[in-house]
Amino acid sequence: MKMWGGRFRQPVDPEFERWQSSFEFDRRLLVYELAASGAHARALNTAGILSSDELIAILQGLDQIAVKAASSPTFLEDEEAEDVHHFVQKQLASLIGEAAYKLHSGRSRNEQIATDLRLYVRAAIDQLQEQLADWLEILLERAQQAQDAVMPAYTHLQRAEPVLLAHYLLAYVEMFLRDSGRLADCRKRVNLCPLGSGAVAGATLALDRRAMAVDLGFSGMTANSIDATSDRDFVLEFVNALSFIALHLSRWAEEMIRFSSQEYGFVQLPESYSTGSSAMPQKKNPDLLELTRGKSARVTGAANALMVLFKGLPLAYNKDLQETQEPLFDAVSTISGLLPLVSGWMKAVEFNHVRMREAAEAGFMNAWAAATHLVQRGVPSALAHEQVGKAVQFCIKKGCGLDGLSLEELRSFNPVFNADVYACLQLESVLAIHDVAGGTAPARVRQAILDAKQEIDAIREEAHAHA
Ligand code: ARG
Repeated sequence: MKMWGGRFRQPVDPEFERWQSSFEFDRRLLVYELAASGAHARALNTAGILSSDELIAILQGLDQIAVKAASSPTFLEDEEAEDVHHFVQKQLASLIGEAAYKLHSGRSRNEQIATDLRLYVRAAIDQLQEQLADWLEILLERAQQAQDAVMPAYTHLQRAEPVLLAHYLLAYVEMFLRDSGRLADCRKRVNLCPLGSGAVAGATLALDRRAMAVDLGFSGMTANSIDATSDRDFVLEFVNALSFIALHLSRWAEEMIRFSSQEYGFVQLPESYSTGSSAMPQKKNPDLLELTRGKSARVTGAANALMVLFKGLPLAYNKDLQETQEPLFDAVSTISGLLPLVSGWMKAVEFNHVRMREAAEAGFMNAWAAATHLVQRGVPSALAHEQVGKAVQFCIKKGCGLDGLSLEELRSFNPVFNADVYACLQLESVLAIHDVAGGTAPARVRQAILDAKQEIDAIREEAHAHA
């Protein structure tokens, strides 16, 4: 039996019927549909619409559907089901008979789909938070292991200043901590229950909305039935948050691809996550990283598709809203597929500390330290900058570093230079002068590792509280 049809005189065109069906993809909402239907059934019982026997039969039927879906993959192959709501009604009727048709009393698929999607997004956020915590922990672990290893930091892709490798890795920790924060923030607005909103104007039966919300673990109820049945902002927010993760992963992947090239030689690609070339026997290619960079397009594409879908959409429920689902599901499976893989890669990768140190020691990255030596002796910084710049030019001609100049040579640029400058030019002192919170001085970085660890632990705790 269809969920509608009484007012129709002609049969629906079969091709149209198949085309408009969403069961192919909304079947993944089945567990949430069953949970929401259970909550609705209990409210119907409280409202005197279902007898206790009917309620028990319905709840047992819903359980059986869950068991069958989990144990038999073919159970979900149903060409006739229009959507997940129709599927449950059909299955319930075949399991418990007439009483099944009472379950839909006083509700609409419009509130059901809104509820199912909120439950789905909430569960996806909780799962992703765990995966993000794993990823963050590995980044942090690698930062801890790196100890005093150094590397050049770049601006404009030109060597700029030496930094600790740990400091560099912590930059990614910050990005992904923000991503986790965005998910946590989004979850607050997701976690409201639309049940009882009906088709658009509110339920036609006296259903206890608060009880249904509590039943499903929501923190509250949506406030307006028109908005509740047509709102998918939580999906847009969520998928946009996912596209931030995708962009950050893509930036990370690009950097690792560069660093793995012979030109940089900073990282050794793990064989377990690389592939070869069918033509060139010597090749080891960074496919995992390239696909990570490539897949960011799908997720940002999904976010964009959703934004466009909603532009100009009138209130309240419109069938366009069915198009929310596939971009959402695709974005979730893309990111939740990526996170464990990049974590595995990061765990396995080897950093070439020697190459990185060589690069960090070359390229005049102590020039600012030389200028700082002058500034600390009263030289106006603009003059110090100019004079050290001239000294650099001199070194380039001479083929040496700033520390390769004699004190006499240095004094020809500014007589204020004294012998202390040689200590200032050493890599370790260059790092040490960046001694501010958030800077690369080793003690600051050690503190930053501890701070980040606390934040990651908090994500983990929060995730466990929701499990
Ligand atoms: N499959 C539909 C969707 O995803 C469910 C809601 C259908 N509601 C309706 N009035 N046709 O949006």
